[in-house]
Amino acid sequence: MKLFSSLGSPLIGEIALPGDKSLSHRAALLSALAEGESQVGNFLVAGVTKKMLKALSALGIDWSLDDAQLTVRGLGLHGFCQPQSVINCGNSATTLRLLAGAIAASGVPAILDGSDGLRRRPMARIVAPLKAMGVKIDGTGNCAPLRLEASHMPLLSIHHRLSVASAQVKSCILLAALSGDGTTILDEPGPSRDHTERMLATMGVTIFGGQVLQQDHSIFRTTLRCDPGQGLNPIRITLPGDISSAAFLIVAALITPGSKISLHGVGLNPTRTGILDALQAMGGRITITSLSESGGEQVGDILVEHSSLRGVEVSGGLVVRMIDEFPVFSVASAFASGRTVVCQAEELRHKESDRISALCQELNHLGVKIEEIPDGFMIHGREVSGGCEVESHGDHRLAMALAVAGLAARSPVVVQGAEIITESFPGFIECLQSLGANLIVQPENM
Ligand code: S3P
Repeated sequence: MKLFSSLGSPLIGEIALPGDKSLSHRAALLSALAEGESQVGNFLVAGVTKKMLKALSALGIDWSLDDAQLTVRGLGLHGFCQPQSVINCGNSATTLRLLAGAIAASGVPAILDGSDGLRRRPMARIVAPLKAMGVKIDGTGNCAPLRLEASHMPLLSIHHRLSVASAQVKSCILLAALSGDGTTILDEPGPSRDHTERMLATMGVTIFGGQVLQQDHSIFRTTLRCDPGQGLNPIRITLPGDISSAAFLIVAALITPGSKISLHGVGLNPTRTGILDALQAMGGRITITSLSESGGEQVGDILVEHSSLRGVEVSGGLVVRMIDEFPVFSVASAFASGRTVVCQAEELRHKESDRISALCQELNHLGVKIEEIPDGFMIHGREVSGGCEVESHGDHRLAMALAVAGLAARSPVVVQGAEIITESFPGFIECLQSLGANLIVQPENM
């Protein structure tokens, strides 16, 4: 699918976003491991979460979906049955990595696989710690497909140091640790999203975390205590809107002259709000109101007005707190005055695409002065010429970011491979159109 994007009227209006992707994955999976019926409101119905639901069916879990209201009848930690065939996780690394931990905890054998893109993503980071816990798991050259054999319970509790801050790796190990023989400790170099920890705590698990000073630097430590015979309580929650989806609308409003939009009920977990900090540091007029808490997560409304932006430097913990937002952040930087530098972000090379190289390639086509460095990129911003076709690289966030760039570029932009957007934000085009954006799906033969 080709998506045509061009400068139109200012973006004006109010919108409530679909549920957070990370929370939707966790709510479905943790509910399946709980004993009894869970209710999840504002569940994200998108390509990647459908893969999770389908996997749960293959594992013998009964669930139903009524619009965005998900009901899951959980069968407890050891309630999964052995799937009859390979579980296909599609493009979703979250589905694969979190399922690997949950399946390890349940003890059933299974094979987890996915698209060619998913098969390229690194899995040694979960295979090694799961093996240390006594899980019989093997990959193909440290990648998917991953084969798990039936495990002996309980698993061994470990103290593991993650070389890269990663919520998927942390969550995988924490889920396996639910069947551990004691206390599991995980140390991370940065503040990765803590949704799993918050949801597990809501479900009755003894889990806590925080920053610890070790020698001369900080680490982020999570501790999970596994009490014998303890299960997960079912949940009844409504998920907040996805801040990662909100980020596309926020940047669209910041760069389109005259815009003023309001986004309601967005998740504002501090491990996810790095993009707001970065855009505010660039001079973005972003105001948070109506702060509240729901299911252990902060929620609020975000008001955004068109702003003149200036370049900033992003590194360290901030990279982790906005890890999914670099495609759209780079678009904001392309419209900002001065230089933006992103470094210590090598992990971007291991996402749905190599986001450093793909971003540099596509923004270059749009006339942006962007320079690739090993662990990030540098942008000399001001304006974006557009007037060409660009490519999504099979990456939903890259496709949406490039479409946003077209909304304020001098000439229109056509994004090829835009059908991938439905992986995480099926309503992206309609949302922007309802705010007044000039986004048009082009017929295939144009
Ligand atoms: C996610 C964690 C992040 C993020 C991904 C979703 C999650 O990945 O990029 O989109 O839901 O745990 P990493 O943990 O690999 O950084």
